[in-house]
Order: sequence, then C-alpha cells, then structure tokens
Amino acid sequence: MAYQEKKFTIPELEGISRESLEQHLALYAGYVKNFNAISSKLVEYAADTEKNAHALSELIRRKSFEFDGMRLHEYYFEQFEGGAKELHKDSSLAEVFEKEYHGYFEEYFKAIGNMRGPGWAMLYYDPVGKELQTGFAGEQHQGHFVTLPIILALDVWEHAFLLDYGALGKAKYIDAFFKNLNWSLIEKRFADIVK
Ligand SMILES: [Fe+2]
Repeated sequence: MAYQEKKFTIPELEGISRESLEQHLALYAGYVKNFNAISSKLVEYAADTEKNAHALSELIRRKSFEFDGMRLHEYYFEQFEGGAKELHKDSSLAEVFEKEYHGYFEEYFKAIGNMRGPGWAMLYYDPVGKELQTGFAGEQHQGHFVTLPIILALDVWEHAFLLDYGALGKAKYIDAFFKNLNWSLIEKRFADIVK
C-alpha cells in the first residue's frame, strides 16, 4: 500500500518559526516517500530471495526506520493542530498525571527530551498495567515500548530546533513545544485508550 503524506493545519506557533515548521514538514514528506519506495522495492526483490538476500535484509531493517519516522511525525504535527489548549484540570489524563507524577510530569518529560542524542521523548499508556510509561526512542526505532499506544510524542532531533535556536537550543525548543500543545487532542488520545 502506498501511504499519502498527511496535510496539517497548524497555526502560527510561539517559538517555532514557520520556516522551521515547513522544513520539518518536508522531512516528514521524505519519510512517506522513502517508506513507499522501500515497500515497492521489497516486492521486486522478493521475486528472487536468494539472489537478493543482502539487499532484502537491509531494506527490511530500513523499512521500520522510515515507517516510524513517518508515523511519529504525524503524531507530532497533529499535536499543534487547533492551536494551544491547556490541559483540563479535571480530565482523566490530568488525574493520572497527578497520581503518577505528583505534578511533575512536564518537568520530567522535558528532562527526557533534553537527553543527549537524536530521538523522541515519548509518553505511552499501558492498558494492561494501567499506568503511563515514558521513554526515549533513539532516532525513531530504538527503545520503544513497542506494544503500547502513544499519548505524546516530542521530536528532539536537531532538525526540529536548529534553525530557530542553534545546536545548543534544545531546551528552549522544548519549552516552545509545550507552549503550543493542544492538550485537548492529547487528552482524547488517552481517553480513547482507557474507555
Ligand atoms: Fe522530525
């Protein structure tokens, strides 16, 4: 199946320039294009698995890298759609933040984002253990809680902040990221999982 690049309606953001956003969206489009290209190449190579064994194994490894790059950016950009909206204090997500993080969720999540190396700070919910999980996914395909649905995804590759803040500006970018979040959408992701 060929995936289509999604279009996002993102308002002016505080602390993240339109130019940075446009460049970031173009990188996302590259993941969609590359995932589709690999998928069709795999079909071609599968006609002779013996002859193409090395190429096949490389492409199969590469495929999830491109897929995760595509899908995580979709989680990322849609978090800005609809404009900044604060977390509702009486929402089920706010309640679980309070129970598990005692009011320190944002601070803790920012610390994950500020870890060294390109990747993603991630928030998941485990419906089996009935608790949130947070983690750092190196690049976009290492270190995930692979079975858990995603609640919040923060891109901390340098391309996300280099233009606006320079190589040392990750913390400022992460502050800006939090200022622009539409928490209503993030609350809905959580509510849809726990219902
Ligand atoms: Fe990115």
